[in-house]
Amino acid sequence: MKSAFLVSALAAAVHGSPAASPPVKARAASVEPITTSGNAFFKGKERFYVRGIDYQPGGSGAEIDPLADTKVCMPDIEKFKKLGVNVIRVYMTDNNKDHDDCMNALAEAGIYVVLDANNPAYSINRNDPHGSYNTPYLQSVFATIDAFAGYSNTMAFFSGNEVIHDLLNTTRTAPYVKATDRDMRTYIKARGHRKIPVGYSAADVTTNRQQTAQYFNCGSDEERSDFFAFNDYSWCSTDFVTSGWDKKVKSFADLGIPIFLSEYGCIENKRDFGEIESLMHSNMTGVYSGGLMYEYTYEANKYGIVNIKGGENASKDQTGARTERGEFAAFQAALKKWPAPKGDGGYTKTTKAAACPTADKNWDVSTTALPAIPDGAKKFFADGAGPGPGLKGPGSQWATDQASSSDGGSASGSGDNSDSETSENAAPGVAPALSSAPFVISGLVALFTLVGAVAL
Ligand SMILES: *[C@@H]1O[C@H](CO)[C@@H](O)[C@H](O)[C@H]1NC(C)=O
Ligand SMILES: *[C@@H]1O[C@H](CO)[C@@H](O)[C@H](O)[C@H]1NC(C)=O
Ligand SMILES: *[C@@H]1O[C@H](CO)[C@@H](O)[C@H](O)[C@H]1NC(C)=O
Repeated sequence: MKSAFLVSALAAAVHGSPAASPPVKARAASVEPITTSGNAFFKGKERFYVRGIDYQPGGSGAEIDPLADTKVCMPDIEKFKKLGVNVIRVYMTDNNKDHDDCMNALAEAGIYVVLDANNPAYSINRNDPHGSYNTPYLQSVFATIDAFAGYSNTMAFFSGNEVIHDLLNTTRTAPYVKATDRDMRTYIKARGHRKIPVGYSAADVTTNRQQTAQYFNCGSDEERSDFFAFNDYSWCSTDFVTSGWDKKVKSFADLGIPIFLSEYGCIENKRDFGEIESLMHSNMTGVYSGGLMYEYTYEANKYGIVNIKGGENASKDQTGARTERGEFAAFQAALKKWPAPKGDGGYTKTTKAAACPTADKNWDVSTTALPAIPDGAKKFFADGAGPGPGLKGPGSQWATDQASSSDGGSASGSGDNSDSETSENAAPGVAPALSSAPFVISGLVALFTLVGAVAL
């Protein structure tokens, strides 16, 4: 969410050649898959709005996959049904585990899933984007696609989360994240998977949000994202105009691809989730397709609406009793009070590319060329990614099989950084201080670089 996710750097290791992808299993429960058209999402012929919640039991620090354990997901799916959400976002999954039971139970409840394809060990390293865009990284990303592409309720994949931050030099990661976004789309097509949308989830940073949106939607159709999402905490018990959301409708009106909020839900004032009224109102529906409220479980950062007994402080055990906090009823009531509108919401029927942003004091990317996929990763398109490394694999951030092209990447890692910021994860559970300063990121990044492993 607000701050970089930090993990200890892992020793470099390159995986051996994986075997062919496992066949997609027949699934019991089935829902109509979500597609994109123009600047909107659709369920069949009906406009589809994200009316969802972010789901990360234990916060980012717990590093667990809630969809691989029925003792975790099942009680929460009951809560999701009670809330009336139609989408959950899951920040971290284990691509070496089975997800049939949780995904089927979600499908039976009519709930779709948006998945981050990265995890702390396998992600673009903000301090070494060139070096971390490598074959083991892409193998993990592609294995995550294979693990979820067979479920009808997999709505979309995030190619990255908050890799670009408010420091100018983090914009230099953009070509590598966009290359990953491109490679994911290529992989989905090459493997004959359903056309699952792929896009980026941007941090709540005013100085480069517009450029980031344009950047991910410029260039060839192969390179352009299928949608754009960003995190926004600017609505603090206010309204459409005071929050500045009216301006964010105007500035994105012409983007040309679907947009939704991947996190929203300021906690600085009393929460009444009035955001939903505007998200479902014609003020916004022509440009936005809803959003995900941050978040489900109550963690140290104080955004959650459900307590899990014994699950505090990034515990690995998220199976304890669930208790609804006061905001649970408020969120449930807001969803009920402001249903998805009928009709097409005034969406734009054609999609189009944006102009690539030019380099300036907020955007330090001067080329529109993307790095070529590392040679070693090309075989995955024909052979499949093979078994995923899971969350406990050796990690890819310091692997050596990287893109060979001279794409303007930063110098590759010396390997002497003891902590590295990964692309993945909202990292809300890292420290309580984050919750009170959602827009102040730079100092925290530096702070956590020093204390990283300790804070986790
Ligand atoms: C980006 O700039 C910050 C602040 O100047 C610095 O701490 C950080 O190491 C830089 N990152 C890279 C990848 O150069
Ligand atoms: C819609 O926009 C108008 C004009 O900006 C504003 O006055 C009104 O409060 C908005 N309503 C909602 C529900 O966003
Ligand atoms: C979690 O951490 C906070 C702050 O350090 C502490 O006050 C609280 O007692 C901890 N809770 C558990 C269950 O360990």
